[in-house]
Amino acid sequence: MSKIVAAITGVQGYVPDFKLTNKELEKMVDTNDEWIKTRTGISERRILNEPGKATSDLAIPAVKQLLEKKNVNPLEIECIIVGTVTADMLFPSTANIIAHNVGAKNAWGFDISAACCGFLFSLQTGASFIESGRYKKVLVVGADKMSAIVDYTDRNTCILFGDAAGVVLLEPSTDDTGILDSILKTDGSGVDYLRMKAGGSLEPASIESVTKKKHFIYQEGKTVFRFAVKGMADVSEEIMQRNNLSADDVSWLVPHQANMRIIDATAERMGLPKEKVMINIQRYGNTTAATIPLCLWEWEKQLKKGDNIILAAFGGGFTWGSIWVKWSYDT
Ligand code: UT7
Repeated sequence: MSKIVAAITGVQGYVPDFKLTNKELEKMVDTNDEWIKTRTGISERRILNEPGKATSDLAIPAVKQLLEKKNVNPLEIECIIVGTVTADMLFPSTANIIAHNVGAKNAWGFDISAACCGFLFSLQTGASFIESGRYKKVLVVGADKMSAIVDYTDRNTCILFGDAAGVVLLEPSTDDTGILDSILKTDGSGVDYLRMKAGGSLEPASIESVTKKKHFIYQEGKTVFRFAVKGMADVSEEIMQRNNLSADDVSWLVPHQANMRIIDATAERMGLPKEKVMINIQRYGNTTAATIPLCLWEWEKQLKKGDNIILAAFGGGFTWGSIWVKWSYDT
């Protein structure tokens, strides 16, 4: 019996309307448009600024639009996997809330915490369910309301992040296209450099944890940058080498959108020209688990069946990885 392969058969994204520009940030912290653009590549990011709204409110419209676009009944969805570090609450999972709101009454689901690799780890998990033969329709979501955990008085981090969601539908492939290989890594020695210090079992919320701003993102940017440049480029090169893919064979690199300089270094190591790299960091900033599906959604119309696409990310944890997808449809 031939191996079952998982195919991405649809993609959708969602960004909130409100734009937080570099000019606006200049009024909030000691920064400037020029610094932000040259050091990161970011010009603006989207923020879900309505009170009472959470990460699921970014994911639900994306999922609903995808199901509508694909003409899939929510009752057909068997599993929903959500990569996020900004779950609506510690429990129950954001997947539960999404399933309830989109009417996926036959689905079970769960969240995966892998920071900026949340989508890649979730995608490989979903693909494995399809490959097992037991699942025919799995939704994989990457969604983060980063504004919920950003300290807008910290210029080191507040310029970087935005809010967004993206989702793909996975189904068994009917040909030789689909998710063909992955290299995924974690290294817990990186925990100190990028994390939210309190709110977990190590340091539950307290007056002190709030006063000391331990419920916001903490990042040692320089160190993370160093590891990210090497990590993302290493796995992207490795996945090409072990699958005998030359730069000419690769149609697109879909990099996590954390910093333009990290994206450039990865593309350079893979020998890819800029025209083959999906870049929307200037408009959305770093939306953590949402960056990669958001790119696939924005570039969907340009993708052709059979295109070799390399997804690559690096994030807190440390987590990093790359996935080789042979695109499964023309739009
Ligand atoms: O997605 C998850 C993984 N995360 C990443 O991949 C992020 C990796 N790190 C980065 O992208 C970069 O390290 C940052 C964009 C966060 C920072 O860029 P950098 O080139 O590493 O700058 P730096 O932190 O070394 O800071 C350089 C200078 C410092 O001033 P001094 O000490 O040289 O006087 C900072 O205080 O820039 C200063 N600075 C700023 N100046 C204006 C830091 N933030 C700002 C700011 N505006 N927003």
